[in-house]
Amino acid sequence: MPSNSTKILLLTTLVSGVLVAVSSNSWFGAWMGLEVNLMSFIPLMSNTKNMYNTEASLKYFIVQVLASATLLFMVVMKTLAEDLFSLAFMETSYTPMIICTPLMLKSGAAPFHWWFPGVMEGLSWENCGLLMTVQKAAPLMLMSYLIEINVFTSSIILTSTVMGAIGGLNQTSMRKIMTYSSINHTGWMLAALITGDNLWLTYFMIYSTLVLTVLSAIKLSSVSFINQTLLTNKEAMLTKFMMFTSLLSLGGLPPFLGFLPKWIVIQEMIVNKMTPMATIMVITSLITLYYYLKISYSSFMILSEEPKWNLQSHKNKTSKKISAMIMSSISLTGMLMCSIMVGMI
Ligand SMILES: *[C@@H]1O[C@H](CO)[C@@H](O)[C@H](O)[C@H]1NC(C)=O
Repeated sequence: MPSNSTKILLLTTLVSGVLVAVSSNSWFGAWMGLEVNLMSFIPLMSNTKNMYNTEASLKYFIVQVLASATLLFMVVMKTLAEDLFSLAFMETSYTPMIICTPLMLKSGAAPFHWWFPGVMEGLSWENCGLLMTVQKAAPLMLMSYLIEINVFTSSIILTSTVMGAIGGLNQTSMRKIMTYSSINHTGWMLAALITGDNLWLTYFMIYSTLVLTVLSAIKLSSVSFINQTLLTNKEAMLTKFMMFTSLLSLGGLPPFLGFLPKWIVIQEMIVNKMTPMATIMVITSLITLYYYLKISYSSFMILSEEPKWNLQSHKNKTSKKISAMIMSSISLTGMLMCSIMVGMI
């Protein structure tokens, strides 16, 4: 397990990798940034307390290296074709798609999502959080340079949202649920990307906040599987409440903050005449909300027993509890605050 100082170093290089990738003005520089980012994330994954992370880091390494190598190869090929031979074949409409595909593999959009659940299953919650938020920033930003509306992009978006909704059905592991939710939100971010206007950045920011909120509540109650939420003591009632309300917020239930980016994206898609796609995406989000609500209901009402031996206390977790409470109140009232602020301006 890396020591704290090593962690600080690696987190710094990880973030600088992202910054290099998003701010470079050549594809080679972008590739370099992605590589620095990957090489600092791999050692962060290691943990001596269990063995799953070795498998996870190996899987992650192989997939990401495949993606970077493909990206570099495509970029070099494009440059060579343009500079040396001025071949016409690279000028065809599929060049952006060819460069976008490895970036989609990197960010885990379906159908390139197969590595994602397996990798998440072997990571600690902190690393899961990094994988779902920071690690998606650079590929999405790079995609925003060349993505365009066509059949390829639309089918990626649709498969991502459908996979996210169907894949999460009947999952019992919290990590799996968060993974499929992440795949789904990648699809929504791609949809925000093709409507233009940096809308995806707003979506990404709110999504990251919500993911961190859910993760802090999950960490606080040390839950890895859904059945562990059914039996809890009275003290943990509050953490349970925070966990499920922020999960519903992540699922886009109207009064919560998570509905805001969803609303904006649907609005923009309708303005851009993508109503059929928006309809399908809304239907998939309905499937999601169905099973999120099912989980929340059963955990709150049906099986809420308190076993006698469940005497663990949360006394030494006060600071974590306070930060989780602040975050989940943002996720609960964020949208109302936004509308009040817009009304005042
Ligand atoms: C996918 O994202 C949409 C929009 O935020 C949301 O309504 C839906 O519940 C999400 N589905 C999953 C599986 O997270």
